[in-house]
Amino acid sequence: MTSGFDPSEYGRHIAEVYDDLHAELSADAAVAVIAGYANGGAVLEFGIGTGRIARPLAAGGLHVDGIDGSPEMVEQLRRNPWGESLRVEIGDFSTTTLGRRYAVVVLAYNTINALPSQEAQVQTFRNAAAHLEPSGVFLVENWVPDVAGFHRGRAVRAHELAEGRVLVEVAELHPAVQRITATRLAFTADGVRLLPVEHRYVWPAELDLMARLAGLHLEERWQDWDRGPFTDDSSTYVAVYRKDP
Ligand SMILES: C[S@@+](CC[C@H](N)C(=O)[O-])C[C@H]1O[C@@H](n2cnc3c(N)ncnc32)[C@H](O)[C@@H]1O
Repeated sequence: MTSGFDPSEYGRHIAEVYDDLHAELSADAAVAVIAGYANGGAVLEFGIGTGRIARPLAAGGLHVDGIDGSPEMVEQLRRNPWGESLRVEIGDFSTTTLGRRYAVVVLAYNTINALPSQEAQVQTFRNAAAHLEPSGVFLVENWVPDVAGFHRGRAVRAHELAEGRVLVEVAELHPAVQRITATRLAFTADGVRLLPVEHRYVWPAELDLMARLAGLHLEERWQDWDRGPFTDDSSTYVAVYRKDP
């Protein structure tokens, strides 16, 4: 594990505005896929955040627990509908254990990159496997690294250009350690907010090997939660890792 990593850091900067920033991001397709794999069983979300995905799952009748490193994100979750009903442990999801098994463990919305090192990412797969029932699945949603989008190690990307809000990311690439250091700039009528983010980016096939190290194997990879085909042009994916028999 990389020393100095603080899993509460991300939420400290963004918790207050997270739900507003992601108001347009539908969780419907993710909820349908997760509920399908759960098939009435329990779900554990690593990096549950403000409950964007977990709350509709719980509202649909599933037992949902979560782990998150940020007390601020979980405070926001508690204020949201269904947020009070979920069991959430504050801790690092690569190591925190809840002492029960689940039909599905999910790590959504590119959060695998929030871990500081390859070792911490492998440890996350091991922790997911340890929480799964014998035939359970670990669902991982992530982006495909776009290193070609950097020029001389730097990239400026417009993430959102909406009326009343602009979200721009200024990023620096460190290929030797597969890291991106970035600051997101959120421009709204209230001013500018700086949101620092650190990624240890990871390749799809690298995740598949991490899964194998943890006693899981790749069952499916789609481009998105709508189960679109994963192709040369895909910039995102959802991978389904099933626990080995
Ligand atoms: C991008 S947000 C995603 C939240 C939610 N899953 C969603 O889809 O909206 C990432 C979440 O993971 C949490 N997180 C990041 N790294 C973590 C770690 N190592 N351990 C626990 N939580 C972590 C952050 O605090 C944040 O709530």
